[in-house]
Amino acid sequence: MTESRDTVLIIGSGMMGAGIAAKSAAAGRRTVLADTALDYAQRGVETAKEKLAYLREKELLSDGDLKRGEGLLEATADYRAERERTFLVIEAVTEDLNLKRKIFAGLDLVFPEDIPIASNTSGLRITDIARDMKHPRRAITTHFWFPAHLVPLVEVVIGDQTLPALAKQVKEELLLWGKAPVIVKKDLPGQLANRILQAVIREAVNIVEMDLASAEDVDTAVKMGMGIRFPVWGPLEHVDAVGLDLCKNVQDTVLPAISRSTAASPRFEKLIGEDCVGVKTGRGFYDWQVKDHERLRTLRDDFIVEAVRFLKKEAAPSVPTENSSEPDCKSEEG
Ligand SMILES: NC(=O)c1ccc[n+]([C@@H]2O[C@H](COP(=O)([O-])OP(=O)(O)OC[C@H]3O[C@@H](n4cnc5c(N)ncnc54)[C@H](O)[C@@H]3O)[C@@H](O)[C@H]2O)c1
Repeated sequence: MTESRDTVLIIGSGMMGAGIAAKSAAAGRRTVLADTALDYAQRGVETAKEKLAYLREKELLSDGDLKRGEGLLEATADYRAERERTFLVIEAVTEDLNLKRKIFAGLDLVFPEDIPIASNTSGLRITDIARDMKHPRRAITTHFWFPAHLVPLVEVVIGDQTLPALAKQVKEELLLWGKAPVIVKKDLPGQLANRILQAVIREAVNIVEMDLASAEDVDTAVKMGMGIRFPVWGPLEHVDAVGLDLCKNVQDTVLPAISRSTAASPRFEKLIGEDCVGVKTGRGFYDWQVKDHERLRTLRDDFIVEAVRFLKKEAAPSVPTENSSEPDCKSEEG
């Protein structure tokens, strides 16, 4: 940010755009939400204000920051008006490669070439999104996790043509927003966290498929076992704590017994064929006529709020800092 460039421009004011805008405004940035029509963008601003009010209610924001944040949110249907004031663009439109490509090519023509243009894509490659840009070096992914006003993680993915220094610059901005940005050095499917989540889902479904345990017990095991430790105890911290020697033995025993499938489990096909698609059809792995999805969602958000509050208080190391603690442990090849 500079004195003349004080604005974060967010293209797409839906669920993610509004959540991202709330965090940007809460951090004291003038934040402009752009959409295809002014009333869509205005609706996004209202949603972002609701998120700010929620953060205040949960004591994650002060009264002063709430007031300031509300005053910093604006809507537009013409992002070109923000050409002179924007220092960061974040695109959060529908997940459609051709649409994102078109938007990136358009933004590229409007904003000076040193202004970073980021995509919130969940699964597309930033390299592909930036294909039609003249300056693809300023294109980068910033994948905020849902709900963006609550979950700290943002995956910052470096595309094949991204200027590597840009990742650090964007990461620094996101740290100011109170986010936990991680840098992903290659533009591959699943970015970083989705690779891990999909591996967990693969084995969770496999356990149900092989009738080793019920869906409910699988979820209980994850939630009440490893999951409850994860905000402060990552898997690699766990390996170091247990000892690599012991962990290697466990891996050698367990890995041959778990799923190595390179496609989704047949259980998905079967359930989808029976119109058991999950909450939206009332049945999936659970019966959602009986199980209360709304209550589960509220519990999820309340738990995240408590966890975030705890992490803030403890300045916990789960939130990455500039001080890397990676050791200089040379491998045999090294
Ligand atoms: N929903 C999630 O859980 C989640 C999580 C992380 C990332 N994402 C990613 O974030 C992006 C947005 O997802 P969402 O859930 O907010 O979608 P959404 O449908 O809620 O919002 C998309 C918005 O983009 C707007 N839009 C469409 N075309 C546009 C254009 N040409 N110019 C400006 N605005 C335009 C739409 O009007 C809408 O307001 C997607 O890439 C998605 O994959 C979603």
